[in-house]
Amino acid sequence: MKFGITTSLRGLRADALVLGWFEDQKLPSHAWWSALPQSTKKAIQRHLKRPGVTLEWSSQSVVQLPKGPWQNVVIIGLGKKPDWSGRRNRLAARRVIRQALASRWSSISIAFQKLTPDDAQQAVENSLLAAYEYRIHRQAPKTGWPEVKTVTFVAKDTNAEHKIAIHRGATIAAMVNHARDLANTPGGLMTPKTLAAAAVKLAHGRKLKIKVLTPVQMEKLKMGAILGVGKGSDEAPRLIVVEYHGRPHPPVLRTAPLSKGGRKGGVDLAIVGKGITFDSGGYNLKPGNSMTEMHMDMSGGAAVMSAIAAMADLRLPINAVAIIPAAENMVSGSGFRPGDILKSMSGLNIEIGDTDAEGRLVLADGLTYAQKLYKPRVMVDVATLTGAAMVALGQEATALFTKDGALRTAGQDIGEASGDYVWPLPLWEEYEPMVKATFGDVTNAGKSRWGEAIEGAMFLSKFVKNVPWVHLDIAPTMSSVEGQSLAPGATGVGVRWLVELARRMAEGRLSPEQT
Ligand code: BES
Ligand code: MN
Ligand code: ZN
Repeated sequence: MKFGITTSLRGLRADALVLGWFEDQKLPSHAWWSALPQSTKKAIQRHLKRPGVTLEWSSQSVVQLPKGPWQNVVIIGLGKKPDWSGRRNRLAARRVIRQALASRWSSISIAFQKLTPDDAQQAVENSLLAAYEYRIHRQAPKTGWPEVKTVTFVAKDTNAEHKIAIHRGATIAAMVNHARDLANTPGGLMTPKTLAAAAVKLAHGRKLKIKVLTPVQMEKLKMGAILGVGKGSDEAPRLIVVEYHGRPHPPVLRTAPLSKGGRKGGVDLAIVGKGITFDSGGYNLKPGNSMTEMHMDMSGGAAVMSAIAAMADLRLPINAVAIIPAAENMVSGSGFRPGDILKSMSGLNIEIGDTDAEGRLVLADGLTYAQKLYKPRVMVDVATLTGAAMVALGQEATALFTKDGALRTAGQDIGEASGDYVWPLPLWEEYEPMVKATFGDVTNAGKSRWGEAIEGAMFLSKFVKNVPWVHLDIAPTMSSVEGQSLAPGATGVGVRWLVELARRMAEGRLSPEQT
């Protein structure tokens, strides 16, 4: 999909022209009305007089024209003007693309009444997200896959900023879709080793450094938690580390822990993503069909590696590291058991209450590794951690946990700005008893059924020492739902949020309370 931008309708040709009106807006008050050919105006007027055709939000209809520079005009109902939002702008862009694909149009022009650079970025980003489909294992239809080849934005006041925004949107969307490709890959084809190979491929040709730790190296670092989870699988775990040095005087790739004290030489941002390539639940086997989507349990890992690649592509002046503790949670004679005690890299002994609470285990070592080796200024983890977060929020918001008030507010704002919507849940000390162990220092799953998303976050907090930290539980938003105008499967959630966070840090627009 190629994007262009122009300030005039003159000479434009496309399979369809897209125009939107607010509910109470008079047709001629549209910024492009006077530029339309007489025949187009007439057809639109006639069309809007038809019963059932409205300009309410979510309405979208097509007017067919026998001749002229476009055979189709898409009329979008924008709803009431005060209700317009970035959220609606995103959805509108997706719906237009879906319509174009269903109609097999290969070129469209979208005439905007007003277009800020941010609007343009959102339109590009969401067009590309809407066009994505995981097709690798399907034969193409006889007529070929539908493809929208060119999208032209028509807007009056455009400048250099718009071009930059379009490029930014395309860059980010490419990496969101990359994360979707990884997450959609079936478990049999996506093992810790393959996930590591994907990171190597991502780093190639970018300003990224990569190292992949094998079990032998993880043993040396005493990473008993991730090793414990991986034990039951024929596919050995990996710790994937991707570094991006976007600021001058980059520190070299470190192999030994930094000396104690001070953040000197540390990175600005560490992002840690859960990389469970398949989650059977282990001995606490998942029941019924709750295992079917568990090849996507590495969505957090896919998000952090794709996000750091986007940071590199955007040349953000920031130093960051992405860490993906990758393992497969299986059942076998060598698997870890309920009641086992795993010694984590941090030194804390973890009592296993449930082998299905494995994400927090691999993250425990991932978070410890991030802090010991990289001294981040801000640390974020992204994980498909709990079904409970889904119960709490449905499938439209990621659960955000942080003890840092400034990061909580900024985090929500980043959600609105990026399209990766998040909503906070508490991390109060009153919840501490949830992770209290009987025979270990901490348990990965207490006895209560209540508040399991909070329980997961409380567990992770035990492995975070004096660094502003955000935990994103993306289980709710891992897969797309009806109404989002996205293909079934992975959403690539987290990438947009992380890139927007990094952008704000690079611009000095983020200051955690705790530093
Ligand atoms: N990967 C799952 C969580 C999940 C569920 C992600 C549904 C996406 C969709 C996680 O490892 C898990 O099994 N969590 C348990 C925790 C429990 C044992 C404390 C859960 O949510 O039931
Ligand atoms: Mn699990
Ligand atoms: Zn899991």
